[in-house]
Amino acid sequence: MGIERWLSIDYQISPHALWSGRTSSGKTVGAKCLLARTILLAPPELQPVHLTVLDPKEDIDFSYLDGLPHFFKGEAAPRGFDLFFEDYLARKEGRDLSANLKILFCDEFASLVSLIEDKREREAAQRKLFLLLSLSRSRHFSVQMATQQPTAQIFGASGTASREQFGVVCLLGDSGSETRRMLFDGDSIERMKEFGSIGGRGVGWLSINGGIAQPVRVPIVGNMDKLNRVIYNCLARQAEQ
Ligand SMILES: Nc1ncnc2c1ncn2[C@@H]1O[C@H](COP(=O)(O)OP(=O)(O)O)[C@@H](O)[C@H]1O
Ligand SMILES: [Mg+2]
Repeated sequence: MGIERWLSIDYQISPHALWSGRTSSGKTVGAKCLLARTILLAPPELQPVHLTVLDPKEDIDFSYLDGLPHFFKGEAAPRGFDLFFEDYLARKEGRDLSANLKILFCDEFASLVSLIEDKREREAAQRKLFLLLSLSRSRHFSVQMATQQPTAQIFGASGTASREQFGVVCLLGDSGSETRRMLFDGDSIERMKEFGSIGGRGVGWLSINGGIAQPVRVPIVGNMDKLNRVIYNCLARQAEQ
């Protein structure tokens, strides 16, 4: 829109982020930008930022993290999720006295869910997610995920309640009215209708803390290697500890 105004996220208030949009709408790049900027710019009391990446679809987007301990792809992704939840319990029960920010990023949450064949295990994972989303904020845990279709189903029994725990909701690219209704309130949807097609990659709508959706653009990444390196270095540093 020709207006440059950076939007910021306060991890103490709304640590959980949901990226949605069709394939190629820019979810993964947008999510990587937020992760990398968080790693570099989080306030001192949240440093060093700790990151776990789950890539159940085994995309090439994260292949450069292969072999690092906090990167879990394909069949290993559910285990990574469980380990992150264990980390949360450790802090909750006072076995872990650190206070830095711990982020779980899952690219395509629906794929993670579908990888868990056993129904009971799947429901357990969805329950753990609900607990993380609703209780972990004060312990400096952040759940960030990308999903094409943010249906309540993928979140299980606590479906809508889980979805509402995301304080940061970003819908990129041209989206159907059904997806909009899943993510935004009536005023926001009205505003999106008035605005018309927003189109394009990395462009969409963002709501913070249930506020009215506002048009947003993910910065255009000129040097993808540089962005990837920030994430790589974060996981490599964790591997040394
Ligand atoms: N902010 C951006 N800056 C530069 N290139 C981008 C940006 N967003 C998307 N792209 C390009 O579009 C492609 C698809 O975006 P991606 O984030 O992978 O979409 P999604 O995850 O929604 O399928 C990327 O591989 C990249 O080449
Ligand atoms: Mg993607």
